Amino acid sequence: MRRGVEKGLRSLTLAALTCWSVTAHAQQAADAVAPEAESDLSVLWPNASEDILASLRAKANGLPVEAQDWMIAAANPLAVQAGAKILQNGGTAADAIVAVQAVLGLVEPQSSGLGGGAFLLWYDAKTGKLTTLDGRETAPLALTPRLFQTDAGEPLKFFDAVVGGLSVGTPGTPALLAEAQRRWGKRPWVGLFGDAIRLAEDGFPVSPRLASLVARDHDRLARFEETAAYFLPAGAPLEAGQVLRNPAYAETLRTISDQGVGVFYSGDIAADIATSVQTAPGNPGKLAPLDLAIYRVVERDPVCVSYRGHDVCGMGPPSSGGLAVGQILGLLRHSDLSGLGPESPESWRLIGDASRLAFADRGRYVADNDFLPVPVKGMLDDGYLIDRNKLLGGDDALPEVAPGTPAFDHALNWADDDAIEFPSTSHISIVDGYGNALSMTTTIENAFGSRLMVRGFLLNNELTDFSFRTHRDGRPIANAVAPGKRPRSSMAPTIVLKDGKPVLVIGSPGGSRIIGYVAQAIIAHLDWGMDVQQAVAMRHLVNRFGTYDVEDGITASLTTSLEQMGYDVKLGTLNSGLHAIAIGTNLQGGADPRREGIALGR
Ligand code: GLY
Repeated sequence: MRRGVEKGLRSLTLAALTCWSVTAHAQQAADAVAPEAESDLSVLWPNASEDILASLRAKANGLPVEAQDWMIAAANPLAVQAGAKILQNGGTAADAIVAVQAVLGLVEPQSSGLGGGAFLLWYDAKTGKLTTLDGRETAPLALTPRLFQTDAGEPLKFFDAVVGGLSVGTPGTPALLAEAQRRWGKRPWVGLFGDAIRLAEDGFPVSPRLASLVARDHDRLARFEETAAYFLPAGAPLEAGQVLRNPAYAETLRTISDQGVGVFYSGDIAADIATSVQTAPGNPGKLAPLDLAIYRVVERDPVCVSYRGHDVCGMGPPSSGGLAVGQILGLLRHSDLSGLGPESPESWRLIGDASRLAFADRGRYVADNDFLPVPVKGMLDDGYLIDRNKLLGGDDALPEVAPGTPAFDHALNWADDDAIEFPSTSHISIVDGYGNALSMTTTIENAFGSRLMVRGFLLNNELTDFSFRTHRDGRPIANAVAPGKRPRSSMAPTIVLKDGKPVLVIGSPGGSRIIGYVAQAIIAHLDWGMDVQQAVAMRHLVNRFGTYDVEDGITASLTTSLEQMGYDVKLGTLNSGLHAIAIGTNLQGGADPRREGIALGR
């Protein structure tokens, strides 16, 4: 373990910003809390292996998990375990991701699954090439730009749009998994679903997070028969620790496993998805079997920026994630964050206003660039970022932030978008025994998506990531709905390279705050020397649109300083789900203490 005296001293200075931190205090306190945490976890995971319990203990003690050969970090121990078995048996990260996602769709159904979409980054150890795959949902062909408007042209209320068939886009996750596994897998497809099928048939313990979200969402889940029967059996919400079976999901997985993913996109499964959407009581949508039949995964160019001698690479449009994280880091690379440190209000002024500048450009310019030109090069151009960086030269919060004018290759004058994103989603990081690295963020959008359930899985509400308005003041909005278009995302699966080799695999859920969570964790790791567990556990400060969202537990002196600089500060919970792997002389994994996941490796 690379943990010297110097690092120990440094971690003491980070105590105020780090929850579950590796401080002397926390290490002492861990002795007191670990037994209780462990006994809770043994109740929840009665059959957990010693290595899972060791990973949970490491997380509770604020320590990274260390390994030599391979590692997975994801949002649920059962999902991680399923992937670990595949890696242990010589599978690649592209094999393991199928097993991990199949189990996540069962045990964390509110966040991701077969009915959603995802973005995947793959670093190939043999070729040294980084590939990004877009498995984002698409808007059905029968949709019109005024999908989420009243007859009077006013935007619908958010949950009126979300719950039901209107918001459901053509799922991309099954096709994405199949494409990644076809390109880079080594194991037979049919063997990758075993754990998920067994858990769905025999049952799994409902996690506290799932139980609390079901209780909170009771009324919306109650609207649809199949959904209510599963999440609210006999009318009562599922309880933590209760064993839950999902035979319909087992049957769906068995069919996909035996017949290949084509069966999801044509035939009975596709027909059932379309029927469920088109007949949703109160809010029918337009998704048709043809939309599923023509769905395609798209390979996109990675979006990379240089930062502190590294290349930080992410997903390009239709995600705004790679571009916004890239712009934030590109704006900050001329500032000495390392010298300032994580407790300096000046660090947070720079990070907060860099983020606001990135969000202003995101709101104006970023959408599906198969439908309109996005100025990707212009937004990351060094000259442009140096110009924008001049705005950060003062001492106080910027009073106002507007989009810049990156070099653009056409004359359209877009208006700012008003899409709303709520935090749900899940992130998986994997490094396999061959040295390949995979970073995938996966979602059904809102918690429980559209609330429509088909054959044991939930359908997404991803279309509400489009702007509800099509125009503002007579100018078009880039992220407006169009048939076949993919809604803009904030998902930011990221791989950081040094000299062409991966050194950090990271990503998070969290709606549009994903961008801030990922950028902050990268800064914490690269500028402030935190290990991956410290970096993912560190308390969050996120500024997107002016208000500084500050996680409970940040010191009063820091929040007061931010207020004195002119920020509105809003304290609260900030539910990231960062999962990260650092690759150095060994592998170090970090799992977000705000969620239920672990890192596991050998
Ligand atoms: N629906 C979450 C995202 O794509 O950003």
